[in-house]
Amino acid sequence: MGLTIGIDVGGTKIAAGVVDADGTIGARTHRDTPADSVDATAAAIVDAAAELIAAHEVEAVGIGAAGFVSSDRSTVLFAPNLAWRDEPLGARVAEQLKIPVVVENDANAAAWGEFAFGAARAAEHMVCITVGTGIGGGVVIDGELLRGAHGVAAELGHMRVVPGGHRCGCGARGCWEQYASGRALVREGRAQAESGSLAAAQMLSVCGITDPAELTGPMITEAAAAGDPCAMELLEDLGRWLGEGLASIATLFDPSTIVIGGGVSAAKELLMKSAQVAFEKHLPARSNRPHPSFGLAELGNDAGLIGAADLARRPVPVL
Ligand code: BGC
Ligand code: NA
Ligand code: ZN
Repeated sequence: MGLTIGIDVGGTKIAAGVVDADGTIGARTHRDTPADSVDATAAAIVDAAAELIAAHEVEAVGIGAAGFVSSDRSTVLFAPNLAWRDEPLGARVAEQLKIPVVVENDANAAAWGEFAFGAARAAEHMVCITVGTGIGGGVVIDGELLRGAHGVAAELGHMRVVPGGHRCGCGARGCWEQYASGRALVREGRAQAESGSLAAAQMLSVCGITDPAELTGPMITEAAAAGDPCAMELLEDLGRWLGEGLASIATLFDPSTIVIGGGVSAAKELLMKSAQVAFEKHLPARSNRPHPSFGLAELGNDAGLIGAADLARRPVPVL
């Protein structure tokens, strides 16, 4: 197969690109993600893909979507943080574009991108998590993406880490993504600021705001990078939650490489360091077993787009 299109549907932006068999992006385009409208989102995806199809010979389209995707890679069954409910996204888009369309979970796509072309190129067993609004997970075992019986394996963000903890968008309580995601960072940051501590007031002023409600994840990561103690503490906490959760995940899958991507990974060193310390401390059997290596996503924000494009050229293996 020659060129395919990869599309990453993010909370604010739909990014699309023409990708070759080596994972290199040729042309790109993007659209704003329409707020809360599944119809407008499908239309924007079609529009972006059509623009690329008009100028390039492409054979298939892969869409990375932030939700539980059916095993036939077509329907978004459920999206904890978006409006998709049993949404036949693949069929809708294919009908308009008249070429094959596959829908993949966004984090599975990112994991595949990093496995095929990025930080885990040399690995046969890898785990990728994407830390953004939620936490996405993708697992590659023996060189194949783990899909489970129904397509929805590796929903790592919904692993329970706190019995009876915060309610999650998936309906359950105490999910990992309520403690280690961008949304958790903002919730904790606002709570600190509302408590009126001097350190938190200092953080707000570094962020250039006075109202805690205006605080965003990127503001906190920037303040931390600039050395603000309150923001640094928030990121260290986040890293600790990440590391402890990853220790459980490594217990299950024994990967050689763990890749961390998504928007929050922009906080790099600080986050990674505290994640790694917590990971080493909580990994069962500690030093009496081989440990995986840790790395940041090499393809950055393009991991999902490139992975979705590459998965679009591959049929799901029948085992
Ligand atoms: C969803 C996943 C998605 C992740 C990252 C989670 O809340 O359940 O399907 O991969 O967010 O977008
Ligand atoms: Na996944
Ligand atoms: Zn959940």
